[in-house]
Order: sequence, then C-alpha cells, then structure tokens
Amino acid sequence: MKTLDDLTDKLVLWRRELHQYPELSNQEFQTTQKIAQWLGDAHIRILPLGLKTGVVAEIGTGAGPTIALRADIDALPIQEQSDQPFSSRNDGVMHACGHDIHTSIMLGAALALKQRESTLAGNVRILFQPAEETFNGARQLIDAGALEGVSVIFGGHNAPDLPVGEFGTRSGPLHANVDRFEILINGKGAHAARPEQGVDSIVVAAHIITALQTLPSRAFSALESVVLSVTRITGGNTWNVLPQQVELEGTVRTHNTDIRAQVPEKIGRLIEHIAAGFGAQAELRWHAGPPVLVNSAEWADFTKEIAAKEGYRVHDQPPQMGGEDFAFYLHHLPGAFVNIGSASAFGLHHPQFDPSEALITPAARYFSRLAQETLRKLTREQ
Ligand code: NI
Repeated sequence: MKTLDDLTDKLVLWRRELHQYPELSNQEFQTTQKIAQWLGDAHIRILPLGLKTGVVAEIGTGAGPTIALRADIDALPIQEQSDQPFSSRNDGVMHACGHDIHTSIMLGAALALKQRESTLAGNVRILFQPAEETFNGARQLIDAGALEGVSVIFGGHNAPDLPVGEFGTRSGPLHANVDRFEILINGKGAHAARPEQGVDSIVVAAHIITALQTLPSRAFSALESVVLSVTRITGGNTWNVLPQQVELEGTVRTHNTDIRAQVPEKIGRLIEHIAAGFGAQAELRWHAGPPVLVNSAEWADFTKEIAAKEGYRVHDQPPQMGGEDFAFYLHHLPGAFVNIGSASAFGLHHPQFDPSEALITPAARYFSRLAQETLRKLTREQ
C-alpha cells in the first residue's frame, strides 16, 4: 500500500497543473474534466448529479453513515505576478485564493480513503465545488442533491497568515454575512461654474458616503460586528460639468443575523433623506450574499482534536469579516470549516499570492483521518 508521502509528488504535480490552467467561477470545464479523470484513474466512484461544472465523488461500501468533505475549484479574474515556473497560463485568471491547493488536498484525501475503503465505518462524499468566489456554487450542489443522506460536512481553507503546521477554527460564527449594495444618486446636471442651476450629485454622494460610516458606529451596539465599505464611486467624465448621476457600490459584513436584517432599511432611510435635503433622489439596490458561517460546537471541537493528534499547532480563531459560501451547507447540516496555515507573504486574492505546497500532504492526511474518525464516532453514537 502506498503511503500519502509517496503521493506527495503526484499531489504537487496536480496542484501545479490546476494552477497553470485556472478557470473562473462556473467555467471550470477543464478543471472538472481533470478531477474526474484523476478520480477515475483511482477507481473512485463519481456520482451522476448532472452538474455543469464540479465533481462529487463517493468512497465507501454503501452501508453506515455518510459524511462529506468539500473543496472549492474556481479561480479569480486576477493577472498573476508570482514568478513561479508554473504560474497561470490563462491570461487574467489566477488561482489567487488557493482553491488549486484545496482541490489537491481533497484529491489526496480521496486517494487515502480509497485505499482504506473496505475498512471505513460508512461513506465519504467528496464535493469538488464550483463557483465559490461568486457565492453560488454551494447552492448548485445542494440543489443537485449532493447533501442527500449526508450527516456531517467539513471544509477548509488555506490561511496565508498562519505558518505551515498551524491550524485554526472556532465554534460558532467564523465567517460573516456578506451583502452587496448599490446606490444610485440622481441630481441635476449643470455647468460647473453655475452649480446653483443644478443639484450636484457628487456633493450629495460625498455626504452619503460620510453618513454611511455612522451606521456601524452610531446605529448599532459597539459590541456588534458591522463593517460597511464603499468600494466604487462612478460619476462625471470631465472637469467642467456637474454630472446628473453618481453610482456607489459597496459591501456590508455582519455576524448577527438580526443586525443584518436591519441594515438595508437603515441605509435606505439615511440616503433617501440626505438626498432629499439637497433636492436629489437616492435609490438603494440590495444584493444578499452568503449567510454567516456557523460551526457546530461539537464538530469544531472534533476538528481541533483530530488536528492536534495529527501534530498541528491548534488555535482558537476569532471570527472573521470575510465570507465563505460553505456557510450554505452549514445551514442544512452540522459540521465545521477550518483554516490551515499556508505561509504566503502575500494574502488571498493578491496577484503575488504564493502558498507553500508543504501543507498539501499533511492536510490530505488530516482530512482523511477526520473523515474516518467522524464515521467511527457517528457509528458509535448510533
Ligand atoms: Ni477562497
């Protein structure tokens, strides 16, 4: 029987193959083909779920409980600047979040579990999920029935700020509710020298942007986590004309679902009345993203216990304001999401992001063991 260390070369090779040919969310056609091919070569069963992109595999004898492991497979619209010999050959597309690493980790876990298939106390379904970056891949897999019969789900992300060999998670909220907003401000265009003949939408926008920052600081308790960032301002195209319209775009992040529900109404009221005060109109368009990612206490503790047994230095992490569409699974099932150190000098979504490949084999071994021990625990408790 081959040990995982014999497979390190293969996993690194696969990671680099994925890294060289990254594909954007919902366009992971070649990536899907490669994953299916590699799993097929190892005689691992692929479930016929009719997915456009993404692969769901299953290992086990059919009897006993079923649990799931999830990797994401999509890349980002970023031009890579890492200087690696295996850097992206797809112009303007890059695995800048390490989903290539996640895929090779779960491929490694799949191979390790396949070798022990006859001894498993149940079944392990492995989700190679598309479109995490656009926050709609998890829902596609759920709608396709990927969670049917699954009792517990685990997933993980590489953490560039942690050294290799370190592990972090927490019970309760880990990632935030993610919402996107657009604000359309409609004033009245005029000559820049005669602003009194118009309604200056740029000045209105400036007041709105400033006032929006009072929501986190004045509208909610200081003990709640609320971040509001305006990330785009579009308006005007020359120096001597006051534009009719300005568009703003941005995001709100929260952990408390009740607070999240109050935000759109508070933004709407603020912008409507500020705009009206100047004789302009403002309209809010709200786009709800993934919900807060809430780890089950029992399973978060279990992931840490197994990580310690596998030799990781384990941290209890504080909640983060980023989003993760794994949250959708945890609204259907218990489970936990974990972070594993990848020691990149540049962070996630940076053009020079360059995670260590040394985390791949230990993480593959970790998820394989986590799956085996979870099945044993579920069988014991049944
Ligand atoms: Ni990511």
